[in-house]
Amino acid sequence: MTQPLLRVRGLTKHFAVRQGATGAKAAVRAVDGLDFDVHAGETLGLVGESGCGKTTTGRMLVRLLEPTAGSIEFEGRDITKLGRRAMRPLRQDLQIIFQDPYSSLNPRHTVGKIVAMPLEVNGINPPGGVKARVQELLELVGLNPEHYNRFPHEFSGGQRQRIGIARALALRPKLIVADEPVSALDVSIQAQVVNLLRELQRELDLAFVFIAHDLAIVRHFSRRVAVMYLGKVVEIGDRADIYERPRHPYTKALLSAVPDVAAFGEPRQRIRLTGDVPTPLNPPSGCRFRTRCWKAQDVCATEEPPLLVREGSGQEVACHFPEPAEGSGKHSPEPAEGSGKQSPEPGDRTTAPSQAHSGAGQENGHEVAA
Ligand SMILES: Nc1ncnc2c1ncn2[C@@H]1O[C@H](COP(=O)(O)OP(=O)(O)O)[C@@H](O)[C@H]1O
Ligand code: SF4
Ligand SMILES: [Mg+2]
Repeated sequence: MTQPLLRVRGLTKHFAVRQGATGAKAAVRAVDGLDFDVHAGETLGLVGESGCGKTTTGRMLVRLLEPTAGSIEFEGRDITKLGRRAMRPLRQDLQIIFQDPYSSLNPRHTVGKIVAMPLEVNGINPPGGVKARVQELLELVGLNPEHYNRFPHEFSGGQRQRIGIARALALRPKLIVADEPVSALDVSIQAQVVNLLRELQRELDLAFVFIAHDLAIVRHFSRRVAVMYLGKVVEIGDRADIYERPRHPYTKALLSAVPDVAAFGEPRQRIRLTGDVPTPLNPPSGCRFRTRCWKAQDVCATEEPPLLVREGSGQEVACHFPEPAEGSGKHSPEPAEGSGKQSPEPGDRTTAPSQAHSGAGQENGHEVAA
């Protein structure tokens, strides 16, 4: 296989914080050892619930945040520790689109100035001049190039996000990290912005790390998908494997809650996860998902499951008892004697917590709602 555009290994971010009345030092383990590659022109979707470390990851990828450990290689070059000056030429290749199109645009600058900023900061004078280039970019993202002199407040949310996209494209990057680029927008215009990004991706052969909490949006945009839980990737693979044959219980639970990505031909089985996501200040031992997992066994509390390709499917899964390889796993395997049982049924009702849990499973207090 060709060298990946981006190669991430062991990427980690721990935020130092002070806790409680004593102000004791503690670490928020926001991102805890991610491994993944992104190839040129490819889209990788990064999904997971709020707080699982997506934004922290995205910001580390473009070096807006310093990793605590691990490495980021871009085109074969280790960029993890490059200083500001050494990073400058790379800024052209690596761009980010922020979640909030309101706070990410300077209200006192015209659209022309905002989109031109990356060119100016990098001392680039494109053929034909900055203004012509900016107008070309505005046109590319579906905005009127004549609106060059307007201010952000004169635009709608969707239009503002288009301005953010034009700014990200100004330096003709090779990779764009899009951090929930449509979640702050009205549902009615989300599809338009996603479609614009898809068109640009194809036309310009851009690679994307597309971050979202919404699995439905990621499905339309990403060829490969990584599912995150509490600072870890729990499953990563091709879109079809992740959406049609999920093997990690968490992925399965997430998918069961999204009507239009429910497994084809299967009655919809909603798995309702109960309990909160544990705090990254003190994540569970072993498998971090075990406090909400209906399949948890003793081993899940003591041994962290490695992210591995399991027999029968192409994606990598971090689970001691992954779902079966074929179909969407309507029937969960019985992982071991005395195992907890999953009891999803058609419909959407809450069942009693599954019985017969042993060891780690018992402290979970989870429920599987079918
Ligand atoms: N600067 C920070 N200091 C301390 N904790 C942080 C900081 N930034 C993010 N976190 C924590 O790290 C975790 C991951 O946050 P984030 O990457 O924003 O998640 P997501 O984008 O998936 O919602 C959260 O628990 C968040 O509270
Ligand atoms: S079965 Fe165990 S390893 Fe797999 S997700 Fe559940 S708790 Fe984690
Ligand atoms: Mg975020």
